[in-house]
Amino acid sequence: MKILVIHGPNLNLLGTRETEIYGTLTLQEIDQELKKTAKSLGAQVTTRQSNEEARIIDWIQHAPDAFQAVVINPAAFTHTSVAIRDAIAAVGIPTVEVHLSNIHAREPFRRHSFIAPVAKGQISGFGRESYVLGLRAAVSLVQENLGRNS
Ligand code: DQA
Repeated sequence: MKILVIHGPNLNLLGTRETEIYGTLTLQEIDQELKKTAKSLGAQVTTRQSNEEARIIDWIQHAPDAFQAVVINPAAFTHTSVAIRDAIAAVGIPTVEVHLSNIHAREPFRRHSFIAPVAKGQISGFGRESYVLGLRAAVSLVQENLGRNS
């Protein structure tokens, strides 16, 4: 089973970016932890980061060619991107939305997610653990789908 993990804009700066909100772990460290977790679940993850909306849309459009599910932290695009939402809806790949911080407990503009209505679910507020929980959820979703189709 292959899962695509997408990190949106500014997440390449994790480790030094607003550490009181996002912690001191780097993106590389999060990716390593996800790879370890995936292995323990019998899955494989590919991790990608971009600051560009168009690249993220292309990755989602092509995800069904190689992956069974997507875990995405759309970062600021969560609150702005109808285009990323439409890409997820268009390809219909099971998608889990994750956030390091609790977006519902921050500034009002972060409370609205364009992605949530087309995601299977949203995990928000658990730091690096949000990604691990998101990956577990994605693996379960794929296992359920496999069960249904067999
Ligand atoms: C974030 C929350 C977003 O509001 C913010 O723009 C980010 C990171 C998070 O992981 O907590 O860049 O997605």
